[in-house]
Amino acid sequence: MNDLISELSKDRKKIKQAIKDPVLFTQFFLYHKPHPAQEQILRDRCQFLTVVAGRRFGKTKAMAFSAIHYAVTHPGSIQFILAPSYNQANIMFWEITSLLSKSILVHLVERVYKTPFSRIIFKNGSEIHARSTTKPEYLRGHKAHRVILDEAAYIPDDVVSQVVEPMLADYNGSWIKIGTPFGKNHFYDTYLKGQSEEFPDYSSYRFPSTANPHISHEFIEKKKREYGENSIIFRTEYLAEFVEDQNAVFRWEDIQKNVASIELLDRGHPARRYVIGCDLAKYQDYTVIVVLDVTEKPFRLVHFQRFNRRPYAETIMRLKELYRRFNSPRVLIDSSGVGDPVLEDLQDIGAEGYVFTSKSKVQLIQRLQAVIENGEVKYPYIEELVRELQFFEYQLTRQGVKMEARQGFHDDCVIALALAVWAAEQYSGGYISVGYSRF
Ligand SMILES: Nc1ncnc2c1ncn2[C@@H]1O[C@H](COP(=O)(O)OP(=O)(O)OP(=O)(O)O)[C@@H](O)[C@H]1O
Ligand SMILES: [Mg+2]
Repeated sequence: MNDLISELSKDRKKIKQAIKDPVLFTQFFLYHKPHPAQEQILRDRCQFLTVVAGRRFGKTKAMAFSAIHYAVTHPGSIQFILAPSYNQANIMFWEITSLLSKSILVHLVERVYKTPFSRIIFKNGSEIHARSTTKPEYLRGHKAHRVILDEAAYIPDDVVSQVVEPMLADYNGSWIKIGTPFGKNHFYDTYLKGQSEEFPDYSSYRFPSTANPHISHEFIEKKKREYGENSIIFRTEYLAEFVEDQNAVFRWEDIQKNVASIELLDRGHPARRYVIGCDLAKYQDYTVIVVLDVTEKPFRLVHFQRFNRRPYAETIMRLKELYRRFNSPRVLIDSSGVGDPVLEDLQDIGAEGYVFTSKSKVQLIQRLQAVIENGEVKYPYIEELVRELQFFEYQLTRQGVKMEARQGFHDDCVIALALAVWAAEQYSGGYISVGYSRF
């Protein structure tokens, strides 16, 4: 390292080049050689850059290189790293601190904060912040020269347009969206803009995972054989194609359009009417309790609990407590399997059970599907709920259509929401009496 610096100081021209060019900068100061696809991204100077790439392409690492280069070469600049969860934003943040700690550039760091949110302050006045987009209200009031959105496809459209983009207004700032495709949302739209000559401020790229020479191509070949070259998973995750998910029960646009800034409540307002839907945990899965405000349409999700490995007595206690706090609402629980004995213990609050058969389940879900499609239920961005809605699928079996979570995913949030919606519909008299164990 010292050799390199002394060599560099002999050659000022080289340093100048390294400062101008993020690729050389990464090599000289961060001791990493960006791979050719990363080079293209790093050298792109467009104001709005969309990078669609397969899993393990090196997205997070490339953005860490880019964020450091920008902070060092733009004194006083403010950058935000945003991701659908705080954990994901921190993966890039820790990549940045790790790269800096091994570099001569560590001397440019004034301080690294971990709380209340991760941020680095540089001696030249630059700042890098890491935040999640889960609570967009916390982002309001901030301004930035540059925003990097990691796993951008999982960030809802309205969070980008209503919260993220306005952050850039003060400085005519720029954004970079990077991620693996998921549905056809803002990420897809700006990818297309980047491909079109009509939008000179937009630029975009698409790369498969195999563009990264540092990962095992043999592993990817295996996955190709396992899932099939034309499978949605392989095409989306490794080839980074925007594939329409034909099996999805809920369309991504519909899921997203119902995400709203709703404050979750611990107790109800006396003048409002509520319903509770609860899906009880069976083996591995979770118990989910959803409280909807159904005073008028659209219904609004105002309380959410998700837990596992707790005795049923605790679930019963929680439901009774919520019953008291939310003005004695109608309570509908999944009464198949373990549900019946639980229901017995909930007699005093008049809880009702919904018996799941393949037919009654389809009816329940179809009701939720219609309500979501019509924008008649709003919910805050709760990651588990949104993910489960995305991965809830039609499966064709010999017995007919089944609706369930994609293999490896849960459906407890979807079922709890569907039960709450079903219970709510009864107030308006529009329900069909299917599958009730008792009434
Ligand atoms: N230029 C590089 N030099 C060396 N290793 C690299 C480089 N770019 C990426 N890698 C390595 O490739 C792997 C994947 O990188 P990274 O985590 O940045 O990918 P990603 O696209 O963000 O993955 P994911 O889809 O899981 O978010 C990591 O092990 C990383 O260290
Ligand atoms: Mg990543």
